[in-house]
Amino acid sequence: MRIAIGADHGGFPLNEQIVEELKHAGHEVVDFGTHDGGQPDDYPDYVRLVGGSIQRGEAERGILVCGSGVGASVAANKLRGVRACLCHDTYSAHQGVEHDDINVLCLGARVVGRELALELVRTFLHARFTGEERHVRRLAKVTKMENCF
Ligand code: RB5
Repeated sequence: MRIAIGADHGGFPLNEQIVEELKHAGHEVVDFGTHDGGQPDDYPDYVRLVGGSIQRGEAERGILVCGSGVGASVAANKLRGVRACLCHDTYSAHQGVEHDDINVLCLGARVVGRELALELVRTFLHARFTGEERHVRRLAKVTKMENCF
């Protein structure tokens, strides 16, 4: 799978550990950094890069890492076609895809440890949208809200 990943200084070095795991698992990774956790930067800049990849269809899924995962999820959901969620439990990481068709996983590097983060990533990537009528119907309502403005 082609996966875009980005992180601000708060998400470093978890982002690099995730990139390593993804490559090891045979995924194609579009790595937007940061590669320097000592340099304060702004999570929306990485959100635009990862979200843009999703919007243009250059990546199937995205992963965003910041300190808490909160800022990244707020910002990512401003982008049309991006459905992002902060998931720190494995149930949400797969159910969010199966029911809500999320295409971006947000993680907080100051909240979860490496092993849980990697498990969350694996769970998110293995999950598929069920396509069941009730979920399609609900998503259509979400998309309609997105197109209101
Ligand atoms: C950066 O210090 C931190 O505010 C950011 O990574 C993130 O946690 C925001 O939600």
